[in-house]
Amino acid sequence: MLIFAISDKGGTGRSVTSANIAYRRALPGADVCYLDFDFGSPTSAAVFDVPSALRGTEQAGLHSYLRGEVAEPQRIDIWAETESAGLRPRPAQAGQLVLLPGDRGGGEFVLGSDTVRRCADLFLRLEEEFEITLVDLSAGRSYAAQLVLEATALPELSSVTARWLVFHRWTRQHIIAAAGLVYGDRGIMATGASRGHERDRLRDSVRFVRAAVPSPSSPMFAELRPAQALWLSICDEDLTRLASEHKLGPMLTLGTVPLDPVLQWREQLITDEDVLSSQVANLETAQAFADLAAALTDDRRWQSPL
Ligand SMILES: Nc1ncnc2c1ncn2[C@@H]1O[C@H](COP(=O)(O)OP(=O)(O)O)[C@@H](O)[C@H]1O
Ligand SMILES: [Mg+2]
Repeated sequence: MLIFAISDKGGTGRSVTSANIAYRRALPGADVCYLDFDFGSPTSAAVFDVPSALRGTEQAGLHSYLRGEVAEPQRIDIWAETESAGLRPRPAQAGQLVLLPGDRGGGEFVLGSDTVRRCADLFLRLEEEFEITLVDLSAGRSYAAQLVLEATALPELSSVTARWLVFHRWTRQHIIAAAGLVYGDRGIMATGASRGHERDRLRDSVRFVRAAVPSPSSPMFAELRPAQALWLSICDEDLTRLASEHKLGPMLTLGTVPLDPVLQWREQLITDEDVLSSQVANLETAQAFADLAAALTDDRRWQSPL
């Protein structure tokens, strides 16, 4: 299954949440592959704590592959190459957790038909090997989004399930922006339809994820003055209404990740150790990642809400 992670804005929590979903899915045994398609800023190795590829790899990454310079992009086995002691060694029951990084210094690039072909070939090969291929796309209406919409419209990929996670923060600006990215001009629906996707099928493959959401009932907010707690609740109600008006309501929301103190300070995977022994991260955060990981393949969550 292909999972595309996208957001209209940068800094939504898309990469950190996606990496944690990949990790939570691999832990109980699924083989998971994570592709850094944030071509302008390929830094997702930082979340996995892989020092050799923090700003992209110096070897042949996804940029080199998509340009046709190498036959296969470099693969990084996270369990073997992470510097995070909490992630090593690979747990006995865990599946593969593999990162395909972008090239260091590689930027966005204009698409040619051979780029689309190579992208589709890669997706087909990974589909045979991995249960989940999670593709972290650039923010906004990017070449990366166009590329995968064109690749997945090819007949060879018609039998491969592709799902979209649209990340946004819980603010007015982010809600409106996320709706625009999906339903607006040159958005996912419009671009997808123009590339040959069937509208209803594409629409049903999109779900929203709310990231870094402050919850008034969280222990983090226990010290709020009553006036602040009330204000936060009113804000939350306003945002809930706004989200529904923009077709980002609960039926189309796959999950909500609470604001976590660890992630505010550091982009990383939240391990059970962080939650249970050192207790630096919140249990609710790890649970939200695990729930999202399970929801990716829970078909009941992907039925048409109409
Ligand atoms: N649940 C969360 N709670 C607190 N901070 C978060 C959470 N998720 C992500 N962040 C932080 O927000 C910032 C942006 O996240 P990132 O995943 O890099 O966004 P994007 O990929 O959308 O640009 C990072 O510093 C990250 O650690
Ligand atoms: Mg990112």
